[in-house]
Amino acid sequence: MLQISNLTKSFGTLQVLNGIDLHIKKGEVVSIIGPSGTGKSTLLRCINYLEQPTSGTITIDGISISPETQSRKRLYEIRRKSSMIFQDHSLFENKTVLENITLPLISAYGYLKADAETKAMNILRTIGLADKYDQYPYALSGGQQQRAGIGRAIAIEPKVMLFDEPTSALDPSLINEVLELILSLAEKHMTMLIVTHEMGFASHVSDRIIFMDHGVILEDGTPDQIFTNPQCKETEDFIKSTIHRINY
Ligand SMILES: Nc1ncnc2c1ncn2[C@@H]1O[C@H](COP(=O)(O)OP(=O)(O)O)[C@@H](O)[C@H]1O
Ligand SMILES: [Mg+2]
Repeated sequence: MLQISNLTKSFGTLQVLNGIDLHIKKGEVVSIIGPSGTGKSTLLRCINYLEQPTSGTITIDGISISPETQSRKRLYEIRRKSSMIFQDHSLFENKTVLENITLPLISAYGYLKADAETKAMNILRTIGLADKYDQYPYALSGGQQQRAGIGRAIAIEPKVMLFDEPTSALDPSLINEVLELILSLAEKHMTMLIVTHEMGFASHVSDRIIFMDHGVILEDGTPDQIFTNPQCKETEDFIKSTIHRINY
C-alpha cells in the first residue's frame, strides 16, 4: 500500500531524513515514536508531498513519485492518496462543521452538493458529531474540533491516513475521545501511520511500532518487541523517558 524507498531530506546543510525505507501493508496501523527533532513530521510531510524529498521514492497504492519523476499530474495523484491530521485541527473557522466536510468534496472531488451533504452527515453520525453539523469550529471543544478534522480527512477516502501528534495540543481530558476515534478507524482496517507520544495508545492500536532517531529508523517491530524487548539502547532510553506520559 505504502512503500518508501531510500528517502532522504535535507534543509540546506541539515540532513533530516537519512535513507528511510518503510513498507506498510493495506490495513496496517504503524506508529512512529522517537525524540523530538528526529524527522518524524518531515517524514509524514514528504509522504504527502507537502515537503519535497531530496531523494527517494514514495509509492502509495500503485502511484510512485520521486524528485526525478515529479510532475504536476503525479503530485496531484499522490496527494489524493493520503490525508494528514495535524496537532492543531485545520478546520475552516468561518465554515460550519458540515461545510468543512462538504467543501473539499465539492471543490476537489466533483461531488454534487446534496451528495456531499449526505456523505458528510453519515460521517458525522459515525464520529458522534451529527448534532454539531451547523456549528462553527469555535463552538466545539478541542476534542470535537479534532474529530471533525478527522471526519473531513476520511471523507475523501484516502488510502492512507497520516497523523502527526493528533492529541498533543489537547487538554488531557479531551485526548481519549480522539484516540477512541482513531481506534475505531483501525478496527475498520484503515491503513494508518501515526506519530504519537501516547505510548499506551500506540502499543494498543498498532500492528508495528517504529522508533526513529536522527533521521533513521533504528527499530521496527511489534509493540511487544519494542516496548518489552527493545534491541537498541536508544529505544530503551526513549521509552523509559516517556513512561510518565501514558494516559491511555
Ligand atoms: N521547513 C524547515 N526548514 C528548516 N528546517 C526544518 C524545517 N522543517 C523541519 N526542520 C528541521 O528538521 C528537523 C526535524 O524536524 P521534524 O521533522 O519536525 O522533527 P520531529 O517531528 O521528529 O520533532 C529539526 O531539526 C527541524 O528544525
Ligand atoms: Mg513533529
